[in-house]
Amino acid sequence: MILSEFNINNFINTTVSSMQPSGIRKFFDIVNTMEDAISLGVGEPDFITPWHIRDAGVYSLEKGQTYYTSNSGLLELREEICKYVEKYDLNYSPDEVLVTVGGSEAIDLTMRTVLSPGDEVIIPEPSFVCYKPCTTLAGGVPVTIETKAENEFKLTAEELEQKITAKTKLLVLSYPNNPTGAIMEKEDLKKIADVVKKHNIMVLSDEIYSELTYKGKHTSIASLPGMKERTIVVNGFSKAFAMTGWRLGYVMAHPALTKQLTKVHQYAIMSSPTTSQYAAIEALKNGNEAVKMMVSEYDDRRKIITDAFNKMGFPCFSPLGAFYIFPSIKSSGMKSEEFCERLLMEEKVALVPGTAFGESGEGYVRVSYAYSIKQITKALERIQKFANKLSGEK
Ligand SMILES: Cc1ncc(COP(=O)(O)O)c(C=O)c1O
Repeated sequence: MILSEFNINNFINTTVSSMQPSGIRKFFDIVNTMEDAISLGVGEPDFITPWHIRDAGVYSLEKGQTYYTSNSGLLELREEICKYVEKYDLNYSPDEVLVTVGGSEAIDLTMRTVLSPGDEVIIPEPSFVCYKPCTTLAGGVPVTIETKAENEFKLTAEELEQKITAKTKLLVLSYPNNPTGAIMEKEDLKKIADVVKKHNIMVLSDEIYSELTYKGKHTSIASLPGMKERTIVVNGFSKAFAMTGWRLGYVMAHPALTKQLTKVHQYAIMSSPTTSQYAAIEALKNGNEAVKMMVSEYDDRRKIITDAFNKMGFPCFSPLGAFYIFPSIKSSGMKSEEFCERLLMEEKVALVPGTAFGESGEGYVRVSYAYSIKQITKALERIQKFANKLSGEK
């Protein structure tokens, strides 16, 4: 018998091996090794999950609720989700809701359930990092649209229409947006909805930041006439309720599609974490006050940080959602990656280069304000010092 040489690379799916890891975490590995470094990089609430929500999780464990739930998630939780989303003028029944392991699983599931090989998915960029790889892993083809700072990073109907082909199946809409903080208001969404209906495509609407808006209530595209059946709404508990570690989200869709999503979820996951589901029921029932407090705190930080970057000569439109600003660093003459590297090495502040969110992020950096005012103030002082140094170099 002739033995061939073992090479582990021959056993790795080629789509996976050609994928790049997320560019977000790169700088944090360095930050963790640096003394006195400050990060304004991570996209997760600095708040601990409110106590009454944690307590509900603990209590469920005390009662011995340690079993799988139904594949779709606890009926009581799905009923609460339906009641909760009424605030966005959405009317769903529990059979249209699937509880998932974070919004992340919901996005992956959607791509795998909806796409057939070669289907095109339109992804406005800069955007959260998972849409492209999830599309590719599901056999689809990502088609990006560069949204622009002069349009406050909103997607326009004209830009969308230009990219639609006979192969387009899905449009990803992710507003309030990570990394730009952009929102889309009802009038903006109506124009997008008209194009979506005209060309008979579907929308994956990632509304994970729906609670974090600073100018009135969030609008879901699914609430517009004729859009519920063509929209797959993704949402979750991570951002609004400061529950990132609980890993809980949900997807709402046409009941026939929800059945198909549930099959994929059933084989991959079985059911979402039981303790987290009990905690989430409490979050939806009684979490409103805590969410209001966190949103008001983010809003104060948002104003401070936007103002500071504009004054430092790194212009930034006033973002109205999520907890990020996306200032331009083009005046420095540096690329995003170089700017972030120098800022980290010279002043020990970590930001994320805009290019981590797509090529159109070149010339920008993502700054998160999910940090305490104390930390933000200290970081801003250091960034100011860096900006002064750069002006001296010119
Ligand atoms: C736009 C967006 N969608 C989805 C997620 C995933 O969130 P999770 O899986 O924690 O619910 C994130 C996380 O940063 C995000 O920014």
